[in-house]
Amino acid sequence: MEKILHIISTPRGDESRTLKVSGYFLKEFKKKYPDCVVDTLDLFKETIPPLTLKTVSGKYVLLSGKDLSGELKESWRDIERAITRFLSADSYLISAPMWNFSIPYVLKQYIDVIVQPKYLFRYTDKGPEGLAKNKKMVIVTSRGGDYGAGGPSHPYDYQEPYLRAIFNLVGIADIVFINAQPMDALGQDVAEGKIREAQKIAAETAQKF
Ligand SMILES: Cc1cc2nc3c(=O)[nH]c(=O)nc-3n(C[C@H](O)[C@H](O)[C@H](O)COP(=O)(O)O)c2cc1C
Repeated sequence: MEKILHIISTPRGDESRTLKVSGYFLKEFKKKYPDCVVDTLDLFKETIPPLTLKTVSGKYVLLSGKDLSGELKESWRDIERAITRFLSADSYLISAPMWNFSIPYVLKQYIDVIVQPKYLFRYTDKGPEGLAKNKKMVIVTSRGGDYGAGGPSHPYDYQEPYLRAIFNLVGIADIVFINAQPMDALGQDVAEGKIREAQKIAAETAQKF
């Protein structure tokens, strides 16, 4: 049975343009995989474990090649739970507006929590090796401006390159981006047209997924 983890990183609920697009992906995805399980992780509603002196110390223990034990292992319980939930999915849908040229802070916190040595990647003689293998990802973004290739704002898009790099690191090579833009810069009519365009691409992406 196909399990998809939908990671939501906008607090705007029904007002969200990003969710208007990712909703189309999910609708078609459910048609294609009627028995699928959709696990919704709303990062603005659920508690993401904080990184503390103790939990970060645990990371350095893992980086040195040792295993966690005792107090440190105990401090990692919520981190391990978050990683287990992430790894239990076959595929991922991330809904992320652009915030300050990059991603909302809750998504960054989530990434800082789950991307851990021994769990999601390991170092080898040939460099880092991702451990989340054979998984697919669709990332839906929406942006106030237009950061499309060839345009003047393209160099300021730190969102798509960052998300691609970090999820490639953990082994997810198959990543499709659907970017709805511009949502604010050219007014409501343009935004609505761009949302419809992105919804069409989202539905087609799900059919091919
Ligand atoms: C905190 C914050 C920061 C933002 N930063 C940018 C930005 O750097 N570039 C941009 O084009 N739009 C920016 N925006 C606009 C959003 O990307 C845009 O309105 C998007 O469509 C919001 O998605 P949502 O409706 O799914 O929440 C920002 C919005 C907020 C709330």
